[in-house]
Amino acid sequence: EAGALWGGRFAGGPSPELAALSKSTHFDWKLAQYDILGSKAHAHALAAAGYLSDDELSAMLDALTQLGEQVADGTFTAAESDEDVHSALERGLILVAGKELGGKLRAGRSRNDQIATLVRLYLRDHAHAIANELVQLIDAIVSQAETHPDAALPGRTHLQHAQPVLLAHHLMAHAWPLVRDLERLRDWFERASVSPYGAGALAGSTLGLDAWLVARHLGLARPSENSLDATASRDVVAEFGFIMSLVGINLSRFSEEIILWNSREFDFVTLDDRYSTGSSIMPQKKNPDIAELARGKSGRLIGNLTGLLSTLKGLPLAYNRDLQEDKEPVFDTVETLEVLLPAFTGMVATLQFNTEKMAAQAPQGFSLATDVAEWLVKQGVAFRDAHEISGELVRYCEEHGIELHEPDDEALARISPHLTPDVRTVLTVEGSIGSRLGAGGTAPQRVTEQRSELVARVTSL
Ligand code: ARG
Repeated sequence: EAGALWGGRFAGGPSPELAALSKSTHFDWKLAQYDILGSKAHAHALAAAGYLSDDELSAMLDALTQLGEQVADGTFTAAESDEDVHSALERGLILVAGKELGGKLRAGRSRNDQIATLVRLYLRDHAHAIANELVQLIDAIVSQAETHPDAALPGRTHLQHAQPVLLAHHLMAHAWPLVRDLERLRDWFERASVSPYGAGALAGSTLGLDAWLVARHLGLARPSENSLDATASRDVVAEFGFIMSLVGINLSRFSEEIILWNSREFDFVTLDDRYSTGSSIMPQKKNPDIAELARGKSGRLIGNLTGLLSTLKGLPLAYNRDLQEDKEPVFDTVETLEVLLPAFTGMVATLQFNTEKMAAQAPQGFSLATDVAEWLVKQGVAFRDAHEISGELVRYCEEHGIELHEPDDEALARISPHLTPDVRTVLTVEGSIGSRLGAGGTAPQRVTEQRSELVARVTSL
C-alpha cells in the first residue's frame, strides 16, 4: 500500500528513509478541504465528459462530502503510509465509496495540477482574512489621527528634528503603505484566480475534460493558458509572499517608532497594559513586545520569501518535486500575520499619545529654520541668501543656548537687515504647520482632505 498512487511499476514499496523524506501530510493536510473541493469540481468534469453516470456523480459527491466531514471532525486522518494529502484522501474516498467508484476519480488529473490549484485556493481565502485585518489596522490608525487633529510633533529626517508636523499626518504616513499593500493584494487576487486544474501532469489531458467547468466550480476566473506553466510556476505564491513581506516591513517601521516613542527619553506614548508585557526580574518594566515581535517577525516573512525564491531559481520546466517546498514557508507567513495583525491593531488602537510632550519638542532643535528661510523668500530674498541668513540665525541661537524665536530685535537686525521683527509670525509651530498648504502637506486643511482620500481608498478584497 505504500506508494498507493503509483505502485504498479515498482517491485516493492519505498524505503522507510525515502518515505520519511517524501512525506508532506504533516503540512499539506491544511489543504485537505480544498483538495475535496477540487475533487468535486473534477467529478463534475468527468461526468460532463461521460466518464461518470448521473448516479455515479451523485454517489461520488456524497462520498466526498462525507469524507470532508470526517476530515473536519478528525475521524479521518492521514496514515503513516500516506505520502501526501492527495494520496490520503484517495484512500479515504475508497473507504467511503468503495474501490470501484473511488478508483475512477483520478482519471485526467495529476497531483501536479491539483496542488498548484489548491495552494491558490488556500491563499485566496487567507488573503481575504488578512485584507480584513489590514482594513481594521488602517481604521485604528485613522481613528487615532481623528482623535488628535491638532497635535504636533517634531518631524524627523536622519532621526534629527527637521520640521514640525501634525501627529495625524505622521500617523497616516504609516497607513498609506498599508493601503497600497491592500491594493497590491487586490491586483494579486486576479492572477491568483486562474485555475491550473486540467493541465494534468504537464501536457494537458486527453479525456476532453472541461477545464472551464472546473474553474467555475472552484470560483476561479478561467483555466491556465499553458499546462506547463500551470504546473511549474509558483510566481503567484512568491508574489503573495512579497506582499506579505512588505506588510511585515511596514509594520516593522511603525514598530520601530513606537518602541522609540515609548522610551523614557521620548515619552511620546504610553502603551495600554493589555498590550504590553512585564519583566520576570525588573518589577517596574513595561515593554513594547508587540512592536518588537512585529519588527522581528518581519525578518521571518522576508526569510520565507527568499527561501521560496531560492527554490524556484534554476528549476527546469515543468513540475519538479522541489516545488513541494513552496508550502511550509507560505503557510508560516499566513499564520504569522494572522496572529500578528490583530495584536498590532489592538496596540495601535489603545496607544495613548503624550501630546504635550510632543508639542513641547516640536519647535526644538531649530526645526523652524526652514520657515525663516521661506519667510525671507516671500520678502524677496533669493533662497540661496535666505538659507545663509537663516543658518546664521541658527548658529547665533546655538551659541547663546536659545531657540529661534528668542533673539531680540537688535540681534535679529545684526544677523541681517532682512530679519525684521515680523519674522516672528512664522516662528510658531502652528504658523509653520498651517502654512504647509502644498499638495500632501501637513497643513490642517490638507490633512483633513488626506484623511477622506485615505478612507475612500480602503476597500477590502
Ligand atoms: N506533494 C507535492 C507538492 O506539494 C505534489 C505531488 C506531486 N508529486 C509528484 N511526485 N509529482 O508539490
